Amino acid sequence: MSATDRQRWNEKYTRKPAATIIKPDEWLIEAHDTIAQITPGITTAGRALDLACGLGHNSTWLAQYGWDVDGVDISTEGLSQAELLAAETDTVINWIEADLDDWQPKPDSYDLAIVFRFLDRVTVPLIVNDGLRPGGWLIYETFAAGELDRANSHIRNPAFTLSTGELRLLFTDFEIVDFREETLENRSVQRLLARRR
Ligand SMILES: C[S@@+](CC[C@H](N)C(=O)[O-])C[C@H]1O[C@@H](n2cnc3c(N)ncnc32)[C@H](O)[C@@H]1O
Repeated sequence: MSATDRQRWNEKYTRKPAATIIKPDEWLIEAHDTIAQITPGITTAGRALDLACGLGHNSTWLAQYGWDVDGVDISTEGLSQAELLAAETDTVINWIEADLDDWQPKPDSYDLAIVFRFLDRVTVPLIVNDGLRPGGWLIYETFAAGELDRANSHIRNPAFTLSTGELRLLFTDFEIVDFREETLENRSVQRLLARRR
């Protein structure tokens, strides 16, 4: 996909510079609370991977919590804005500019992987399977097909939305700890919390 993707996202981030307030996603906070209850030590000493991290709002929140975070994205512009925002709060994150089509994590090296608003049915399951250690956690939220019925949604391509129940089926080697199909006021999404066996 990727030269065009890089260009498209660089243009998008250049047109609309980052907001100065960085809010983590509510599903990240909720699922992270569940992880903290089940495996308390992991949430302050673990290694985390944010796939297609964009402006890094979730990476930054995790790093402030004590995680050692790698944030991966294809967009040079997005990552440089992410770095500026993180620096405002003295937060250190390892930003990695890479195309997920080619990028490979070190095997079994992460305790947590997160994905928000990004769907690639091939690369994401492969990366998450390889990169998470056994017992490692996955927190995932992205758009569901209901999004296509919303007049004000920017999502128009059905390939970028999940069919009913689909997100959990992408991670067959995982224990599904929580799975939800949510029709929220401003978006339709699927949410997953899963653990590598
Ligand atoms: C909708 S944004 C989501 C960003 C962030 N996860 C969030 O929730 O705000 C999608 C992100 O995917 C990145 N992206 C698109 N294709 C990619 C690829 N092949 N490899 C890595 N990142 C990619 C874009 O640069 C963009 O930052």
